[in-house]
Amino acid sequence: MATKLMKALDVAFGHPRGKVGELGGRVMAKVNAKVEAHAVDVLGPTADETVLVVGPGPGVGLRLVGERAFKAIGVDPSEVMLDKARERCADLIVASRVELREGTAARTGQEPSSVDAVVSVDNLQVWDNRPAAFHELFRVLKPGGRLIVSAHRWALGVSEYDLIKEAEAAGFTEVRTSLQQHGGMIPPAVQLFANVPA
Ligand SMILES: C[S@@+](CC[C@H](N)C(=O)[O-])C[C@H]1O[C@@H](n2cnc3c(N)ncnc32)[C@H](O)[C@@H]1O
Repeated sequence: MATKLMKALDVAFGHPRGKVGELGGRVMAKVNAKVEAHAVDVLGPTADETVLVVGPGPGVGLRLVGERAFKAIGVDPSEVMLDKARERCADLIVASRVELREGTAARTGQEPSSVDAVVSVDNLQVWDNRPAAFHELFRVLKPGGRLIVSAHRWALGVSEYDLIKEAEAAGFTEVRTSLQQHGGMIPPAVQLFANVPA
């Protein structure tokens, strides 16, 4: 029973696919909107920056980054989510302010030292290889670049201490976490902040 439920949740939210994945995308776009907006506000993308958005799902946060940054690049392994994000960001894609492609946190397809910032909301728990992902995100960030990863605390599956150690092992400095309460029905989120030395 529990295994069936976990499988259904994975098809809807973790690795969205088919009709269930589409429905999951609609739910995420509503339920996670505040968490996405908060992460983007804290990141504070500026008009001259290129930002990598990891696991944008239906593209709510990706759109917010695209409206503020020089360019937002979204990488997600789910075809269904890429389609949803393309719909949501259609005008920004035409204006070359948003790019979308298949990829994961550990395999972004991005050139080394090519982005100013990276943001990931509610997908750390499904990264297939977390240490490799931290190395990849360190690799693609420019010197002085910054990373924000936000994930619902209940879904984390790893201690904050271990997360900090994994990010430091990849080369990140000034790594720290904080707990973000969004209120209402939204569960608390752990936010991890990390920098690439200038
Ligand atoms: C729960 S959804 C969150 C989507 C969106 N960020 C939000 O908060 O609404 C998880 C997303 O992570 C994507 N994903 C799955 N495996 C991934 C990986 N290894 N790296 C990056 N994203 C991944 C899924 O396709 C899905 O779009």
